[in-house]
Amino acid sequence: MSGERFIIHGGRRLEGETAVYGSKNAATKMMVASLLTREPCVLENMPLSGETDITRELCERIGSRITGEEGSRWAIHTPEIETSVVPELSRKNRIPILALGPLLHRKGFAEVPVLGGCPIGHRPINFHLEALNRMGVRIERRTHSYYAEADEIHGADLVFPFPSVGATESVLLTGVLAKGKTTIHNAAAEPEIMNLIGMLRAMGADIQADEMRREIHMEGVARLTGVSVRVMPDRNEVVSFAAAALATDGDVFIRDADEGGMEAFLEAVRALGGMYEIRGDGIRFFGHRPYRRVSIQTAPHPGFMTDWQQPFCVLLTQAEGISLIHETVYDDRFGYVKDINRMGADIAVTDECLGGERCRFDGATYNHSARITGSTKLSGAAITVPDLRAGMAHVIASLAADGESVISGIGHIDRGYARLDERLRALGADIVRK
Ligand code: EPU
Repeated sequence: MSGERFIIHGGRRLEGETAVYGSKNAATKMMVASLLTREPCVLENMPLSGETDITRELCERIGSRITGEEGSRWAIHTPEIETSVVPELSRKNRIPILALGPLLHRKGFAEVPVLGGCPIGHRPINFHLEALNRMGVRIERRTHSYYAEADEIHGADLVFPFPSVGATESVLLTGVLAKGKTTIHNAAAEPEIMNLIGMLRAMGADIQADEMRREIHMEGVARLTGVSVRVMPDRNEVVSFAAAALATDGDVFIRDADEGGMEAFLEAVRALGGMYEIRGDGIRFFGHRPYRRVSIQTAPHPGFMTDWQQPFCVLLTQAEGISLIHETVYDDRFGYVKDINRMGADIAVTDECLGGERCRFDGATYNHSARITGSTKLSGAAITVPDLRAGMAHVIASLAADGESVISGIGHIDRGYARLDERLRALGADIVRK
C-alpha cells in the first residue's frame, strides 16, 4: 500500500473541464476476455489504474504480450498460455477468478489467487463457483488460491439468487466456448457487462442479452478471433467529478461522459437541485449549496449504483433536511461515514431498511442504511481511506470543507482513479500528493 498522502485545502470552487477515462470495471474484464483467443486483441480508451496494472500482471504471468499506453490502444496477444497456474500476484483484486473459464478452455486446468478487493462487506464467490460446477468444472479451494479442472465444459441453465456482476462475467467468459447452450436468469445487466458482451460478440461469440428480463442466452462456439474494441467511459469517474463539482458550488464539464447508464444518477442530481447539461461531447455539472434532501436506494443496474452512494452521501450532507440512503447491494458499505461525521456531518447508520422497501439484509444486523441530517458545515480532518469509493468520498468532503485535510491510504484511490490529484488541481483544487 502506498505511503503517500493527499493534503487538501478545501473551500475552493471546482471549475473547468476534465476528460473521463475508460472504465476500469469494463477494461479489466475485457483484458481477461482477450485470453479466450490466440489472436491479438486491441482495446482502445484503456484507463491507467492500479486495477489494470494488476490485471496486466496476471495476463503477463500467463504469457500475454501487452503493448500500449494509457489513452491510446493496448494490444494484448496471448498466442500460447505459458502457464495456467498463477497462485499469487504482487497485489490482490477480484479479477483473477474471472480468468478461470478462459484458462480452462485453453489448458484444461488453472490456478488463480484468492480474491482481494475492497472491504465493503461479505464478498463471497459462491455464485461463480456453483455456476462453474454446473458447467462441468471441478474447483478446489487451496490456502492462497482456487484450483480448477475440467474434462469438458458444457452449457447450463443457471438462475442467480442476486444479479451479480462478477458471476455474470464468469459465466459469460466460460459459456462462450462451452459445449451447448448456457442461459443465465437474473443476470446483471450493467453497461460494463454489455461492453464485454459487445467484445465477445465481435470475437465471434453467439450471445443474446435481454436486459429488461435480466436474461442472457449463449451457444458455445468452437473458437473466437481477435478483435479491436473501445472501452466505455467510466461511469464512476463521471459521478465522482460531478459530485466534487456540486459539493464545491462548482461548474465542471466532463468531456466524453455519456448519459447512457447514468439515468438514475442524473435523476438524483435533479431531485437534489443540482444542474447538468448534456452535450454531444460530454456532460456539464453545476450548482450551488444548499441542496434539497433526497432519498435513494442503491440497486443493480438500472438502479442507483452502489459505487455512487459514497460521493452522493457527501453531497447529501450539503442538503437541507433529512435524506436517506438504503444500500441493498453490499452489507457493509458505510465504513467511511464516521470520518465524514468527524468533519462535521450528521450521518446515522442503522441496520433498518430505510425508505420503505425491505431488502435481503432485512432482519440481519448489517448497518446498510444511513440517515443524513443537513446541511452541515464540513471542516478538514486527518483521515485514513478504507476503500476505493469511500476514499473518493473523503476527497470530495475535503474539497468542500474549510481548512486542511490529510488523507492517508491513497493507494486505494489510485487503484480506481488515474492521476486524481493532477486532474483536480487542473480544476482549481488545492491538493498535493506527499
Ligand atoms: N455475491 C454473492 N455471491 C457471489 C457474488 C456476489 O453473494 O458469488 C453478492 C456480493 O456479496 C454482493 C452482491 O452479490 O453483496 C453484488 O456483488 P457483485 O458480484 O455484483 O459485485 P462484484 O462483481 O464483486 C463489481 C464491481 C464493484 C461494484 C459491483 C456492483 C468490479 C471489479 N467490481 O463487483 O466495484 O460495486 O460490481 O456493481 O467490477 C469498485 O469499483 O469500487 C467496486 C467495488
